[in-house]
Amino acid sequence: MQIMRHPPVKTSLEPSNHPYLTGPWTPCHEEVDVPELRVIAGAIPTDIDGIYLRNTENQVHQPLGRHHPFDGDAMIHQVNISGGKASYRNRFVRTHCFEAEQIAGRSLWGGLMDPWGTSMRPGFGAHGGLKDTGSTDIIVHAGTAYATLYQCGEAWMLDPVTLGSRGKAPWVPLDGISAHPKVDEATGELMFFNYSKHAPFMHYGVVDRTGTLVHYVPIPLPGPRLPHDMAVTPNWSILNDMPLFWDEELLGRNIHAARLHDGVPTRFALIPRHGSPEDIRWFEAAPTYVLHWTNAWEEGDEVVLEGYHQARPMPEPLEEMGRYSHMMAYVDEHSFQSRLHRWRFNLTTGETREERLSERIVEFGMINPRYAMRESRYVWSTTTRPGWFLFNGYVRHDTETGEEQVYRLPEGVYASESPMVPRKGATSEDDGYLVTFLIDENTGTSECAILDAGDVTKGPICRLALPHKICSGTHSVWVEHHQLRADAAFHARRYAAA
Ligand SMILES: [Fe+2]
Repeated sequence: MQIMRHPPVKTSLEPSNHPYLTGPWTPCHEEVDVPELRVIAGAIPTDIDGIYLRNTENQVHQPLGRHHPFDGDAMIHQVNISGGKASYRNRFVRTHCFEAEQIAGRSLWGGLMDPWGTSMRPGFGAHGGLKDTGSTDIIVHAGTAYATLYQCGEAWMLDPVTLGSRGKAPWVPLDGISAHPKVDEATGELMFFNYSKHAPFMHYGVVDRTGTLVHYVPIPLPGPRLPHDMAVTPNWSILNDMPLFWDEELLGRNIHAARLHDGVPTRFALIPRHGSPEDIRWFEAAPTYVLHWTNAWEEGDEVVLEGYHQARPMPEPLEEMGRYSHMMAYVDEHSFQSRLHRWRFNLTTGETREERLSERIVEFGMINPRYAMRESRYVWSTTTRPGWFLFNGYVRHDTETGEEQVYRLPEGVYASESPMVPRKGATSEDDGYLVTFLIDENTGTSECAILDAGDVTKGPICRLALPHKICSGTHSVWVEHHQLRADAAFHARRYAAA
């Protein structure tokens, strides 16, 4: 395997026994290019043609305080599949904080668990002292990849093919943007939200295909909230106000402690895509917290939303994990108990109906992207190792029949969030693949793996050797080459006309 290595980044990270700086969470500091990946088993499908991008958490410097798994610097890993061949490359996201710490040669910002004021510089994000790592999400809009942070910050732009930095998005408002903006491929629009500690506490915006902010309105909330994701349908955008948020009295003393507020319902704001605050339709539902939605669509008088309902949004600490007991519980699906769930908002009656779709503890799900914003039947969720934020298998839910296929990876092997990639010429909703990166703690290696989305129980049907072991992280995306070509042609026409 031909490997082209880039000049090393400066690191000051010392050996540690931290549960999220070791094993499958050992940071990767190396940037490489591999023109052609070696096939370990199976064959690369010739009926997919696109790019898989995954954002991961890679702590570069010795933390100033207590390390949290989501403190690491963003690194994007890419597998580019075309014509039955695959290449690989990975790059740090060149955020301002990453660059400043490269110059300093050490950490300048504290982490999510550190007291306010630990940081030695102001933060770049909307929340003041935090480091804007861009390490939560990765999406592609109008030919540009955007890495974003869930605590709100800049949208860091990369070329999705070369992973070269394109700087920060010029359209991001002062309050930043949250992770999980949504793209409507049909209109070329990107919908996003942000949240902050000052009124109106949330905003919602739309960016068009030219990268222009065309709509930006307040979503007034009763106080500071901690939303994580949003959903869109062709006509509506869905924001949320959940009862898990910072304790207001402690917040007054600059202590950021989230708690579940008894008796406070979950609220959903349905706003027309280009609507104003007066157009918002508010719906109430039973108290919960939801990290991720899988899909939303319109059905007669109803707007339907699917995602992962948490039975215990405020989990008990995992005492056996000692000083990490609280942090370990907050990132453990088995502690907060997330299950696939459906909410139906009736626009005529104003009522909400809820339905549990599965009893399994799962999260980080994907749908066939061709069924985004319309009624979909299948969801591919991931399972996790109890006590840990580590994906150890898949569940393919058939929400029509309730049937579930389950695949469990071998012990010590962990997956990444795995987009569903429809096959060229697909004849059904589940006709395609799941693409993922695996981390194998038994061998100390990583692979790119491809599964049959129609039958996940077969396990990987193609395995490709990666040149190094990657670190775990959160979100990922698949972008089709034909979409990138269409975006390039769109921009070429714009420049020619200008
Ligand atoms: Fe997320």
